[in-house]
Order: sequence, then structure tokens, then C-alpha cells
Amino acid sequence: MVTSSAPGKVYLFGEHAVVYGEPAVPCAIERRARVTVTERADDRIRVHAEDLSLDGFTVEYGSDAGGTPDVNVSESVVEAGVRYVDAAVEQARDAADAPSAGFDVDVESEIPLGAGLGSSAAVVSAAIDAATRELGVELDEAELADRAYRAEFDAQDGEASRADTYCVTVGGAVRVEGDDCRSIEAPDLPLVVGFDGGSGDTGELVAGVRRLREEYDFAADTVETVGDLVRSGEDALAAGDLEELGRLMNFNHGLLAALGVSSRSLDSMVWAARDADALGAKLTGAGGGGCIVALDPTDETETALAFTPGCEDAFRAELDREGVRVEAA
Ligand code: PMV
Repeated sequence: MVTSSAPGKVYLFGEHAVVYGEPAVPCAIERRARVTVTERADDRIRVHAEDLSLDGFTVEYGSDAGGTPDVNVSESVVEAGVRYVDAAVEQARDAADAPSAGFDVDVESEIPLGAGLGSSAAVVSAAIDAATRELGVELDEAELADRAYRAEFDAQDGEASRADTYCVTVGGAVRVEGDDCRSIEAPDLPLVVGFDGGSGDTGELVAGVRRLREEYDFAADTVETVGDLVRSGEDALAAGDLEELGRLMNFNHGLLAALGVSSRSLDSMVWAARDADALGAKLTGAGGGGCIVALDPTDETETALAFTPGCEDAFRAELDREGVRVEAA
């Protein structure tokens, strides 16, 4: 039995623009998904998942027949969860040259699902790490990040950037531009997350930005401006200048709103954070609903968000410098 965990992530800068080759800077946060993998004597897979936002389910399947969920969560949630675990198991079998290995997989996550915090990337990366170790193989960080990316790519039918999987695998702040992924220096970041309880449709939101960009040159310019802003953000991170970082996060939110990917609840949470004197605040991830991230070394933003209509949960989540790690073996 091996348990591995991986952190969630927020985007400090650059979501959406990263789709068009601009750089983005996600960073790992101190909220984790833990995956425990035990090899079975047969070639079947049993998945049990407990998450913040669902009651939990168990499903077992094998090469012979499909599995049937045994509890009352929606089938789409179960299907989505199983799709990611399945893609991770395939990567682990391939890496360990054990095509018919079977596993019991237990997933426990502190990361809200589908809300721009990288829950699926964390589960996939931790699952591949735990399953390969259970088979006696230890992958280096680069291979683990690459296999996690390929698993997400398969589970999402080809719609995935490397940003989430690289970030949660290596931890800390990272810079992603196309296939070029690297870690970057960052000071401790007093991050606060606000969650509206919902999620956006990433595919729809990405398609909306693509349409705007095709229709209006100034929308294409806005995407390029996000790229310029990300480069300034990298300088501010390297200098440890939190006030400048906050100003740039505010600016990034404005540009994302102009591109049509914010929402009323995301805007209310961003404004609640600003009114509470946060250094900066922006939506994180695809938008449309889900989470905002604010920078505030005091308790003010977290308190203000807790009283903001439309905010379901608010929590502090410092930058996590550790990516995937073994919790028990
Ligand atoms: O909501 P998330 O964390 O899956 O982030 C989506 C980020 C986008 O830039 C909108 C899309 C992508 O694949 O990079």
C-alpha cells in the first residue's frame, strides 16, 4: 500500500492567454488530494472517493464488465472521477510495464471539484505516483509530470494544457509557455481563496474567448496584454514585491472580465477582497464560476468573504513549495 498526495493550484496570472501561447504562472497551494493505492491479486480496479463536494462513492470494474456505483452521487461525477483514475492507472501500468496490474484506489481530496483549483490534476499525479511505487517503480518529477499531463489529456479528450499537472507535480510557483515548463522563484504568498460553490464550463469559456479574439483585434490585443502582464508579474515575484503582485492581479482580473469569463459571484468576491484591503484579487482558472484568489497577509479578506453573498467557502491557502509527496508506504 502506498499513499501519495499532491497540492491544488491557483493561477497567479495568465489563464486563457496561455491557450494562445502566452506564458502563465500557476502556483501550488496548501490543500491536497491524497491517493492510496493497493495492488490486487486480480486485474480489477476498485475506486473509492471522498471529496469536500460529494458524499463519496465506490465503484469496481475490470476487463470483463462495467462497474455500478453503489451510492447516491450523480453518475456524471462518478464517471468523471473514474475517467481520471482510469487514465492514471493506464499510465502507471505502462510506466511499470505491468499491463494487467489491478488496484484498490482510495481518493480523499480537500480541493473543491471543478472550481479552477486543479483537483483532477492533483488526483491524477498522486495516483500515478502511488501506483508506480506500489509496483516498485519510482518516476522522476519530469516523467511524473509528463505522464500526469498525458492522463489528463486522455481523460479530457485532448483538452488540457500542461499548466495544472506540471504545477501540482513539482509544487511552488511555475511558468508554463506551450510545452516549456519550469519552476520559478517566489516569496511566501499570503493567498486567500473564495469559492462560490459552483464551476464554469471550461470548454465553453475557452471557445468564447476564441470567438472574441477572432472577431475583434482589440480582444486579440487584450490576450497579448495578459502575456505582457504575466512577464511583469514574474519580475514582481522574483523581487518579492507583494504590492506590485497585487496590483497586477487586479489588472489581470479586469482583462479576464473584459474577455467575458468572470461572473457576478466572482466579481462580488473580488470586490469584497478589494474592499477588505487585499493587495489584489482575481478569478482563477477558466472562470464563469468557481474560485477567486486574493493576496492578503491579514485576516480581513477571509472574514469579508465569509460574509459575502454568493461566497460558499473562504480559506487561507499559502503557497505550497512541495509537489507530489509520499505520505505512507
Ligand atoms: O479551470 P482550470 O484550472 O482547469 O484552468 C483552465 C485554464 C485555461 O487557461 C482557461 C485553459 C487551459 O487549459 O489552460
